[in-house]
Amino acid sequence: MSQDEAVRSTNDDAASCKRSAVHLGYWTDPYVQYFVRAGDRKPPEINRGYYARVTAIKLLVQQFIQVTQRQCQVVNLGAGFDTQYWNLCDDVMTPSVWVDVDFDAITTAKIHYIKSRKQLNEKLVSPVYMRTDLHSASYHIVGADLRDTDALMTKLCTECDLDCTQPTAFITECVLVYMPAIASQQLIKTVAQTFNTAFFVSYEQVNMKDRFGEVMIDNLRQRGCSLSGVEHCTSLDTQRARFLSTGWTSSDSLNMLDVYKSLPQTDVQRIEQLEMLDDYDSMAQLFEHYCVTWASRGSSLFHSISLRHSHVLSHSLSHNRSDSHSDSHSDSHTNVIDSTH
Ligand SMILES: C[S@@+](CC[C@H](N)C(=O)[O-])C[C@H]1O[C@@H](n2cnc3c(N)ncnc32)[C@H](O)[C@@H]1O
Repeated sequence: MSQDEAVRSTNDDAASCKRSAVHLGYWTDPYVQYFVRAGDRKPPEINRGYYARVTAIKLLVQQFIQVTQRQCQVVNLGAGFDTQYWNLCDDVMTPSVWVDVDFDAITTAKIHYIKSRKQLNEKLVSPVYMRTDLHSASYHIVGADLRDTDALMTKLCTECDLDCTQPTAFITECVLVYMPAIASQQLIKTVAQTFNTAFFVSYEQVNMKDRFGEVMIDNLRQRGCSLSGVEHCTSLDTQRARFLSTGWTSSDSLNMLDVYKSLPQTDVQRIEQLEMLDDYDSMAQLFEHYCVTWASRGSSLFHSISLRHSHVLSHSLSHNRSDSHSDSHSDSHTNVIDSTH
């Protein structure tokens, strides 16, 4: 398997972990089941990790959409089989434009699932399906290599008609770490140079120079997947610095243990009832090796967007939307350090 194929395969892991957690009731997502088959049941710490990751990104993106009163654009880079667009449709919270970007092989598969599922394609207005790309009134998919920033910007600004003067959020959920550090820096810098008023949300590894981090890196390397961008994952400071050195004017970062503690606690208490967790310390150790970083430029409106006090936010997490779809799973557990893409 080539390095790029190994990187692409991390999308299968992420999608199946999300499906597992949704099935157990961690959050509601009626759409993930259309992109990935039911797989093994994951350990509670993995399910809680995905819960914290998905909830944190959802809270930041919802705050961005709310402060811009939906007059905004969102670009999900390395989106994989992400389903946020469909869930935002159900919550009547869609931005003016949403774009999902990934390698051609992933976008081709995603378009195939969208085309073949009424529940997905009925949410698109005037869709035009191509092999690797899809364009509709407010949702686009484009196949692109994030390491080629010129080609990416051309696709975004010409084929998806993104307006560089509009507030635009970029999401990288466990993506930048798979790119060479120099390429992810170029990407973050090009986004800042192209979009005047922009917000960035990034989820990935942190504290990777300690023993636990080294084991994570070794496990992935043995599976043919190297974390080429890991030098930015040394600390919360290195995570913030990568933005502040590339044209972003403010940046903040929290490890996932602190994120978990600052999420709306009524919902955290609800999910903690779903499964017994044997070892809180192992979960805490795992959570201290992931973080969410957010950055902005061009508008002071974005300074209010944060996860630091998200327990007091009144945003609807939409976890209680009834999920009428259920699926089956087995009881086998997967290795914790390996299942965290
Ligand atoms: C761990 S998966 C995460 C998928 C999705 N963001 C999520 O969290 O569910 C990483 C994704 O980044 C994509 N990716 C990594 N490097 C990329 C690149 N150079 N160009 C396009 N996509 C890339 C992979 O194909 C994969 O879909």
